[in-house]
Amino acid sequence: MKFELNNILRENIKKLVPYSSAREEYKGKSGIFLDANENSFGSSISFLEELNLNRYPDTLQLNLKEKFSKINGLPTHNMFFGNGSDEAIDILFRAFCDPQKDNVIVCPPTYGMYEVSANINDVEVQKVPLIAETFQLDEASILKTINTNTKLIFICSPNNPTGNGAAWNSIKTILEKFNGIVVLDEAYVNFSKCESRINELRNYPNLVILQTLSKAWGLAGLRVGMAFASECIIDVFNKIKPPYNINSVSQNLALKALDNCEQVNEWVKMIITERERVADEMQKISIVLKVYPSEANFILVKVTDVNGIYKFLESKLIIVRNRNTVALCEGCLRFTIGTVTENNEALKILKEYKS
Ligand SMILES: Cc1ncc(COP(=O)(O)O)c(C=O)c1O
Repeated sequence: MKFELNNILRENIKKLVPYSSAREEYKGKSGIFLDANENSFGSSISFLEELNLNRYPDTLQLNLKEKFSKINGLPTHNMFFGNGSDEAIDILFRAFCDPQKDNVIVCPPTYGMYEVSANINDVEVQKVPLIAETFQLDEASILKTINTNTKLIFICSPNNPTGNGAAWNSIKTILEKFNGIVVLDEAYVNFSKCESRINELRNYPNLVILQTLSKAWGLAGLRVGMAFASECIIDVFNKIKPPYNINSVSQNLALKALDNCEQVNEWVKMIITERERVADEMQKISIVLKVYPSEANFILVKVTDVNGIYKFLESKLIIVRNRNTVALCEGCLRFTIGTVTENNEALKILKEYKS
């Protein structure tokens, strides 16, 4: 099938004249800035003077993109930075889905924001569950479910909350047969044995890849997420986003964080080692029925008495995610991999549980 961006873009977005901010018109760094109604006397946070917080931030976060480009090799025009990748998810709906007319496909159990964003934007969600035994994509059912109003297909790999990666062959088939956008959410890719698929962007004009600084980079509080895609899709993102969507503090600190690749790689190794150790230890506990294999920084665990165990853990101040009400995750708790001490404590408490 042939992907044509104009065939799936909403008419109002095609016609949209984006907001033009004062700082986009003049690119120079020096000058007397009397264009954006800022406070020229200074910022009320004086200890962060070097951040110039009295000035609006760079709308397109060019320094950040240039530095990230050195890490992942992607040109800056293929990158969008958002207020978390959740912002990118929302923009995808606003760009491509007409409320009450279009639909998207999600493959539950998966990350809940795809459906929430669809609901906020009044867009129908077609659910094609993962295959129960393997948590792999049900490629045939996905292809059958696509209709003329299907605009987006969300694939999360490694998937939250199951932890497994989706087979590339299935993703490839969907990319080839669908003339809408396939959103591949790689929030947990750093913890996976599979590499990111960003190199596939050159082969698939309908591929959008999401990543985030919230997981391996340890910056969930900063709210910085990314979408990688063809230049024309990124242009659409930039047209829709609020002009100053990443504040100066986040831009500046993210820029500093990107110097710490070695630390991040070290953490990733430690988390993977811990993940395997915790999975092994859990398997030995009598109330644990199954530990699902994981390529992420969490594990999904089926237990005997899910609500009782969840409450018991909580009473001991061990907070995990109860996924019991999620289809195909009945009886399951999701444990984020913590520090060695935290994991040991969680294991100890689990062993103490008496039904
Ligand atoms: C699969 C997946 N995608 C995206 C996100 C959100 O990331 P961000 O913090 O960048 O909004 C999460 C957060 O848990 C996630 O699990």
